[in-house]
Amino acid sequence: MREVNSAVQVRFMQKEDIDQVLLIERRSFPAPWSTQAYLSELSNKFAKYFVLLEGKQVIGYAGMWVFAGESHITTIAVHPEYRSLGYGRMLMLTLIEYSKQRGVDTMILEVRVSNSFAIKLYTSLGFKRIGVRRNYYIETREDAIVMLRRLKQENETEREGAK
Ligand SMILES: CC(C)(COP(=O)(O)OP(=O)(O)OC[C@H]1O[C@@H](n2cnc3c(N)ncnc32)[C@H](O)[C@@H]1OP(=O)(O)O)[C@@H](O)C(=O)NCCC(=O)NCCS
Repeated sequence: MREVNSAVQVRFMQKEDIDQVLLIERRSFPAPWSTQAYLSELSNKFAKYFVLLEGKQVIGYAGMWVFAGESHITTIAVHPEYRSLGYGRMLMLTLIEYSKQRGVDTMILEVRVSNSFAIKLYTSLGFKRIGVRRNYYIETREDAIVMLRRLKQENETEREGAK
């Protein structure tokens, strides 16, 4: 079992990270994204992807589209050997903080109904279930729970607190 390393760092994903990202991707999702899919995301100006690094090793990543006052989380994964150490939460907090700084109103995500760890993580971060998308995951025909967190009121409260 690995231990939490306080020296891990978060930065924007770069093309050079994709090979390591795919190693985690293939161990995390039934229908992993390809190199081409990540290259395309990295060239999309609305897409923001982050990696978590222990030294030079990518141990997790997360991404979202930030557009029209909304952040839509597209992916998050932690290397299987580094799970349950708080790194997933760290990545989510990075997405939330980035969205707050950009004045985003709403964060939204989809999660498999069977993914209880992820649902627990999102719920603990203030995301609320707002609906279900039937057969959302084509490869398994599994339903997705749609979860949402409003940031706008929080942003305003924080600004008022700083006055
Ligand atoms: C979902 C995922 C990113 C979470 O990352 P992680 O680093 O393991 O998560 P954390 O250690 O930060 O834990 C965050 C919360 O998740 C839940 N959790 C994580 N591991 C858990 C476990 N073994 N048992 C129960 N709950 C667990 C807990 O609520 C935990 O919060 P807590 O520690 O305060 O109780 C990771 O499990 C993963 O990569 N899964 C595969 C890819 C995936 O399913 N992505 C989500 C797609 S929507």
